[in-house]
Amino acid sequence: MDILKQVRRTIVESFHEISVHGFIFLVKRGNNILERLIWLVCIIVGFYGIIELGSDTWHRYQTSPTVITMDRSKFAWNTSFPSRTMNKMTVCSDKKIDDDKLEDYLKANPLKFPTDDSKENARNFIKNLSLISYETMSDFPLGIEGNIKPDEYLKLMSDLKWEFHPEISSGTSNKLILQRIITERGICDAVNTKTAYYNSYDYWKDNRWDLVEPNITVVVHPLELKPSQRNCRLDNESEELLTSAIYSFNLCRSQCRFKMALKECKCIPWFYRSLDKNGRRYPICRPEGMRCIGKMKDEIITLKSSKKKIECDCMANCDNSNFFTQSIRSRVWFLGANLQWGIIDYPKLQLKRELIFGLSDVLGMKNIIINANICKYPLMF
Ligand SMILES: *[C@@H]1O[C@H](CO)[C@@H](O)[C@H](O)[C@H]1NC(C)=O
Ligand SMILES: *[C@@H]1O[C@H](CO)[C@@H](O)[C@H](O)[C@H]1NC(C)=O
Ligand SMILES: *[C@@H]1O[C@H](CO)[C@@H](O)[C@H](O)[C@H]1NC(C)=O
Ligand SMILES: *[C@@H]1O[C@H](CO)[C@@H](O)[C@H](O)[C@H]1NC(C)=O
Repeated sequence: MDILKQVRRTIVESFHEISVHGFIFLVKRGNNILERLIWLVCIIVGFYGIIELGSDTWHRYQTSPTVITMDRSKFAWNTSFPSRTMNKMTVCSDKKIDDDKLEDYLKANPLKFPTDDSKENARNFIKNLSLISYETMSDFPLGIEGNIKPDEYLKLMSDLKWEFHPEISSGTSNKLILQRIITERGICDAVNTKTAYYNSYDYWKDNRWDLVEPNITVVVHPLELKPSQRNCRLDNESEELLTSAIYSFNLCRSQCRFKMALKECKCIPWFYRSLDKNGRRYPICRPEGMRCIGKMKDEIITLKSSKKKIECDCMANCDNSNFFTQSIRSRVWFLGANLQWGIIDYPKLQLKRELIFGLSDVLGMKNIIINANICKYPLMF
């Protein structure tokens, strides 16, 4: 009995002291049971409101805390040259294999290529291999690979690459560097890009996954949010990618193709990294495997299928600019290759993702407190 009384007294005292409105009327002397009940209902409704609004606010913070706004102050921006992760400019020449290097390689391995026939087959095979892409895999010649093992493909492609030294000019003072890059169209050269380094043969060969300071200084304004909230990824957020140290939308799509090839044909083309972050090794396709991939070329290129669902879930890069080609001119030139490109018009519009609803807004929750006090008014008369 004593304990019960004590508990009762404690409740009454704390309800008198508590600063949240309403509780005091539950225990006020002279209020009858009906009045107390009405106040109880009010408090319950208030609490229900708190929980509803609170979860609403939390949901909004988690899913749509940003808005996309248009920015037209064009004189204030620095326009980056097509060079970032998304818009790298890649030059893929039709000639990939250096004939002299190829002959040297065949001569240096007489055990592998003993006869003139085997040499001729190897020549054809290596040239075909260097030119593969998803479009042409279905026609890949069978039965000419001889003794060349799938694990050697990438090394061969890199060692026998035809060196391509065009003169590059951009009309600005920036120095443009050409870097070797492994792409889904074979080994190419990319200009001024951040991703080339992570897709080079040397980087893959040494099984590296580290990030390095980019040569090109790019200005980014990362939004300080978790990726699922902001719906875009920074380039150092590559946890989802098993075979890349850096994130880009295209690398993510590339990995999606990698997974599709592995699932449907149990092997991957040679232009993918065959050893992943966790140390798992994937089999590289023999010519039969390439033909298998070639059969589903439309699906694997577009990553769309009418028959089954293809889930890639690739988020855009946070710093993404789109360039549109306005004119292209090309002509045969006999004094070495010359590549020229430039921006014809400065951009006039920029879309910005802005944070309008941050953590401080969630913690503020002012509106909720107001809601809890709504009962004050009907009972004031
Ligand atoms: C634009 O570039 C100049 C020179 O590199 C730099 O001083 C300036 O802060 C940059 N402006 C913006 C908005 O990044
Ligand atoms: C690819 O292989 C076929 C069959 O051996 C050959 O006829 C063709 O010339 C090769 N392609 C190239 C680009 O060497
Ligand atoms: C920076 O440039 C040098 C030579 O110009 C090159 O060897 C190096 O790989 C580049 N680093 C990156 C991260 O692109
Ligand atoms: C990615 O880079 C940004 C700044 O560019 C940094 O704030 C962030 O911590 C980095 N994230 C990871 C996972 O390294």
